[in-house]
Amino acid sequence: MNKKRILIVDDSFDMLEVLQRQLNALNYVTFQSSNVNDAIDILEHSDVDLLITDLQMPVQNGMELVKYTARHFPNIPVLVITGYPSVAGAVEAVKSGAMEYLVKPFTIKELQKAVEKALAQRAVKFEGDGQKTKWKNDQPVSYWGIIGQSEGIKELIDLIRRVKDTKVTTLITGESGTGKELVARAIHYSGKYSKSPFIAVNCGAIPENLLESELFGFVKGAFTGAYESRAGFFQAADGGTIFLDEIGTASGTVQTRLLRVIQEKEITMVGANKPQKIDVRIIAATNSDLYAMSKNGKFREDLYYRLNVISITTPPLRDRRSDVLPLAQHFLQKFSKDFNKEGITLSKEVAGLLKSYAWPGNIRELENVIQRALILCDGEITAGHLPDYIKSASQEVPAETTILRTLKEVEYEHILKVLQAVDHNKTEAARILGINRKTLRQKLINQSGTKRTTG
Ligand SMILES: Nc1ncnc2c1ncn2[C@@H]1O[C@H](COP(=O)(O)OP(=O)(O)OP(=O)(O)O)[C@@H](O)[C@H]1O
Ligand SMILES: [Mg+2]
Repeated sequence: MNKKRILIVDDSFDMLEVLQRQLNALNYVTFQSSNVNDAIDILEHSDVDLLITDLQMPVQNGMELVKYTARHFPNIPVLVITGYPSVAGAVEAVKSGAMEYLVKPFTIKELQKAVEKALAQRAVKFEGDGQKTKWKNDQPVSYWGIIGQSEGIKELIDLIRRVKDTKVTTLITGESGTGKELVARAIHYSGKYSKSPFIAVNCGAIPENLLESELFGFVKGAFTGAYESRAGFFQAADGGTIFLDEIGTASGTVQTRLLRVIQEKEITMVGANKPQKIDVRIIAATNSDLYAMSKNGKFREDLYYRLNVISITTPPLRDRRSDVLPLAQHFLQKFSKDFNKEGITLSKEVAGLLKSYAWPGNIRELENVIQRALILCDGEITAGHLPDYIKSASQEVPAETTILRTLKEVEYEHILKVLQAVDHNKTEAARILGINRKTLRQKLINQSGTKRTTG
């Protein structure tokens, strides 16, 4: 068998040497470079099967190399090495095309595993499914129950496809009813760990004093009433995915324990003195601003960064109105079967009302509205079958604001309006506004000022 050839890039010569020694011991051929420029030179002139790069390097950052490789050598998988304080950078890297990441310090075993995974995933990624999909414009799409037509939903699905076969910890943030749980399930069931369990835990629904033992299990005699040992959710999810819903409500103790699970990949049952190894992908979800909570001490900051390696945002329905009708049709079909009422249609007026309503309860609210209308109607859903608040909301004329504003504010508001009209398709918005994408991005960044953008 031909030995695989690995290019290692790190500005620290010590690190280069260690990696070289370890990889040679694992029977790989290595090339080394201490900077991005030389690395690109090697990529261009040698046959490389895998690139391993550090992210923090002076002069040119490792991220540049990740992006360059993804663009010019899409079939060379990339493994990123990162120090603990910069785990957040791994998000960027994975989004830019890296397949695996390794946090320093790591053992030779961990290195071996990551290298093997990256090499193996290469085959999967470049034989179709993992690739960014060429979406047909304006066609509704459907992916593991996720329906939509907007740019936002397509980006969401692309991101799910990128993470589904990895064990990278993922944080899903979004308003209530936007599909966070649906996304978590899609990641699990469409990915290669789908044969293992998916365990959903609502951290908000379990009393705080029980959460720890529910998550990690307990041993006999750990507390009064613990007559026998019992496994927790984590053991139940071994090999698969644990979905920690409403993570923002986890107590300080649980947060500390979770951090350990992520760092050490092991859990300790309540009352036990020895930890046990565990292999679980963690997907957490929240509708609170966990970043803000971590900044004002309400959530452990280190845990936030550990959870947020990949962040997925489920956009509110009002920001992607082109999804409203495909979703309405989808629910119509779904419930028609349940109620034995086939062939029901939506009147033109209803379609208009649904599209202009703001949907504070998001997709769950739309689902309920369609279900209710279906029960009430015969043949066609008309305005009379909709709740009054939807009809009256669309008649409200927004009050004109008379406050004098700066040109910048008006510009920003106009940009947002255009973005909304085109479902946040930045290319399209830039075209309409007559500026290029880069300028658009800059204007958005400048205006949102200190506001953080996720993803
Ligand atoms: N894109 C979508 N396509 C089809 N159905 C969707 C979509 N998004 C959400 N739904 C449906 O809407 C309902 C709410 O979704 P889900 O429970 O995943 O939301 P959530 O963000 O977890 O809400 P909460 O914060 O209230 O728990 C579910 O019935 C789900 O199947
Ligand atoms: Mg939910």
